[in-house]
Amino acid sequence: MDKIIIEGGIPLNGEVTISGAKNAALPTLAACLLTGGWHTLNNIPKLRDISTIKNILSDIGVSFEEYGESLRVNSDNLKDDTAPYNLVRTMRASILVLGPLLSRLGKARISLPGGCAIGARPIDMHLKGLHAMGADIDLEHGYVVAKSSRLHGADIFFDIPTVTGTENLLMAAVKAEGTTILHNAAKEPEVVDLANMLNKMGAQVSGIGTDIITITGVKELDPVEYTIIPDRVEAGTFLVAAAITNGHVRLRGYGDEYIEAVIKKLRDSGIEIEKSGNDIVAKSNGKIKSIDIKTTQYPGFPTDMQAQFMALMCIADGWSMIRETIFENRFMHVSELRRMGADIEINGGQALVRGQDTLFGAQVMATDLRASASLILAGLAAKGRTEISRVYHLDRGYQDLDKKLSLLGSNIWREK
Ligand code: EPZ
Repeated sequence: MDKIIIEGGIPLNGEVTISGAKNAALPTLAACLLTGGWHTLNNIPKLRDISTIKNILSDIGVSFEEYGESLRVNSDNLKDDTAPYNLVRTMRASILVLGPLLSRLGKARISLPGGCAIGARPIDMHLKGLHAMGADIDLEHGYVVAKSSRLHGADIFFDIPTVTGTENLLMAAVKAEGTTILHNAAKEPEVVDLANMLNKMGAQVSGIGTDIITITGVKELDPVEYTIIPDRVEAGTFLVAAAITNGHVRLRGYGDEYIEAVIKKLRDSGIEIEKSGNDIVAKSNGKIKSIDIKTTQYPGFPTDMQAQFMALMCIADGWSMIRETIFENRFMHVSELRRMGADIEINGGQALVRGQDTLFGAQVMATDLRASASLILAGLAAKGRTEISRVYHLDRGYQDLDKKLSLLGSNIWREK
């Protein structure tokens, strides 16, 4: 297993290009199941999670042609309806093939995604929605078995907004008979990206980006060329990297869209963030103010940036209250940050971070994707050497993060 080594204390300087959004690539790849023909998806990041969903899709009969960051996808000859346990257990988002497979084939067998480090992450709202649209849903030997001769429109109310739940039902509804309305739908930019792609394929989706999405079923959809949005979590991670190292970083070609809440909180903590042409530039003057954050659905502060922001608060000038409201166990990075000298007290979904003058390099272990990023950020700021093991978590969601940071001047490398 790879590990990443960092000799900390070097201010980052330079510019970086943000890759395509993992959480837009996953649903748009799944959407290619909805109709045959050659789709072209641009700006697809090279990540472990993308390889995982490609493996699931090719087992089902989808073929791919890769050209750099573009992927041509063909689902003419689907030969199976199953997403197997050995692949699904490595990535919960595999559940995203359920809706489109059910729409295209009238049946689907998806291994129940296990929980993961950050929480139980059930899929009850996905299944309730599909059942409301006429699907028979059974659980057999750890697999969700869904069948439906013809999905029909339904009025669906989500108890709480669910990103992949909204995406699954969007894909199930676009060719269903009649109209589906999703109430309390997720508004994340990645949901908007999927809906825009579906409309480009000939779907009729309205209310995109709001919490009430209406889908009028159509008979046919066409294959499409579509360019997905950049990754707002990677962008936010680099803004924090500039802040935590007292650096000066330009995000090339990334406007300030989709991460307004993160930019606001970073500005409140004293970081200068300016739009410059099509880029944004982050500059830190070394003083980090402690501020409180509470994660919530978009457009609020994203849960996927909580761990990264906590690393910054570890060297801020006071106390910061961090409240995680989306997942029940998304503080796995805390015990590792403590090994680096952080002073953090957890009480349920709240973490009180008492800022220190500095952190110290240590051997730490990644536990989940965003926790890995948090440890990297802490290592960039820490005095001395940090060794982060189990970086396969990081490779799930960041393309070449260590290389990009090295190009910004940090002393970081990967060892087997
Ligand atoms: C998506 O996960 C993202 N993943 C997550 O990013 C992100 O953290 C999360 O949304 C929240 O923004 C992808 O888009 C592939 P949810 P998802 O359904 O869809 C509960 C990353 O780091 N819930 O919006 O699985 C659930 O347990 C990943 O890139 C139910 O109870 O999240 C959670 O508490 C991590 N029943 C809350 O809703 C359901 O049927 C929100 O989850 C579905 C969800």
